Amino acid sequence: MILTRRAAIGSAVCFGAAAGAACGVDAAVPRTPAQTSGPFYPRARPADQDADLTRVKGMRGVARGQVIRVSGQVLDRQGRAVQGARVDLWQANAAGRYDHPDDGSDAPLDPNFQGSTVLVADADGRFRFRSVKPGAYGGRTPHIHFTVTGARARLTTQMYFPGEPLNARDGLLRSASPREAVIARAIGRLEADPEALAFGWTVVL
Ligand SMILES: [Fe+2]
Repeated sequence: MILTRRAAIGSAVCFGAAAGAACGVDAAVPRTPAQTSGPFYPRARPADQDADLTRVKGMRGVARGQVIRVSGQVLDRQGRAVQGARVDLWQANAAGRYDHPDDGSDAPLDPNFQGSTVLVADADGRFRFRSVKPGAYGGRTPHIHFTVTGARARLTTQMYFPGEPLNARDGLLRSASPREAVIARAIGRLEADPEALAFGWTVVL
């Protein structure tokens, strides 16, 4: 069983308390706060639905912007990995523009940016993707939208980036409680992909 730090703390609380049903409740890992899916859920999916959003099959170029790598893990409220969870994610490009007919922004589309994908978590509940950091738009700080579906639960939320100056002013982020649960952890740079900034994030269904 994969235990996150939070789950481990939950277990410690459980073992320290009297055994019984109440202990089970105390041990539950807090659910990641739900957030709106917003108006730009993809209507059409690109034929390319792999885990590298910085390239589009059939195109020669690469997406503009800061490359990121996100390593995520889906857990249930007991801290157990949710094997096979469906991870549906979509985001604006580096200019802050969604590839969606309702996005009337003047910011340019990027033909080399995939914009969305659907991943399946592995046996440890883990998923990974490579993308570019989404641009800010319309008062929103950079964020990536997710709908994560396990066998027993489904969550729509948004993942944010640490240290972003606009985080403090984003109403949706400020409404999340606890706020830290929707902000990814910076991991730094990876030797294998030195141009990418790496982030980690745990989703609890
Ligand atoms: Fe958005």
